[in-house]
Amino acid sequence: MLVLRSPAKINLFLKVVNRRLDGYHNLASLFQVIGLSDRIHISISSDNRVDQLTCTDPTIPIDHSNLILKAANLFRSKTGLTFSVKAHLEKHIPHQAGFGGGSSNAATTLWALNQLCGVPVATPELMHWSADIGSDIPFFFSEGTAYCTGRGEIVRELPAPKQTNLWLVKPKQGLSTPAVFKKLDFKNLSIRNPEDSLESYLQGNPDYFNDLEEPAFAAMPELANLKLSLLSAGFDTVLMTGTGSGFFCLGEATPPCESNLFCTPSNFLNRSANSWYI
Ligand code: C5P
Repeated sequence: MLVLRSPAKINLFLKVVNRRLDGYHNLASLFQVIGLSDRIHISISSDNRVDQLTCTDPTIPIDHSNLILKAANLFRSKTGLTFSVKAHLEKHIPHQAGFGGGSSNAATTLWALNQLCGVPVATPELMHWSADIGSDIPFFFSEGTAYCTGRGEIVRELPAPKQTNLWLVKPKQGLSTPAVFKKLDFKNLSIRNPEDSLESYLQGNPDYFNDLEEPAFAAMPELANLKLSLLSAGFDTVLMTGTGSGFFCLGEATPPCESNLFCTPSNFLNRSANSWYI
């Protein structure tokens, strides 16, 4: 059995480039793994029983729509190996938040199954396969900091950033990814060149922005007020991550953690080449 950390992510900047013929959007985004994490307990058996998934959060589906079991199916079909999976998910990452919890669970499962099977597959191959079941999954096979393009599945590894004061805040209500993309108004998108944003970041003058904030605020107007209240708490940067409804806050301040908010300090997290996130 393996017990692995399954960490969340934030998008330090996110540019929507265009809408594609397949219905997805081309993005250009700086992704960073963070310390907020689920934990996955996983074992395999060759006795051909059905897969078994349990979760500490009863609102999370534990059937084959769960990305842990989708990852198990993907690994088996790509490798031709036959085994059943028993997994338990300790859920701490809020869902519908833009923190990539489900994607991280899928990546962690693929990494774990590869270890449990004696490492038959190289990490770049796991990364490549994982795009079949979700656009944000390949990123987690980087070492924790990457510039991602295409649907999000084209991953350019970057050096880890310096640690800084980081808070995560999310209202109780979540946002569905397709719903936010549907609210996108291309006339209102920023005209930034994301390669310039990347260059500024690498030179130590980051320009944090998220083109999906406006459509998310249109879908859930109270998010704009939450952002204002976090800025007035004294943070330098308050930005929605992914399609929301979670925010990350950077700067020397503490958010007003009311009972209707998920609110936690966190940190940037990177992994070394041959191990998973610890
Ligand atoms: O790839 P994933 O399953 O995570 O995507 C979920 C949904 O998010 C897609 O069906 C699509 O509506 C939207 N999406 C998008 N453009 C992306 C990523 C996701 O429009 N780059």
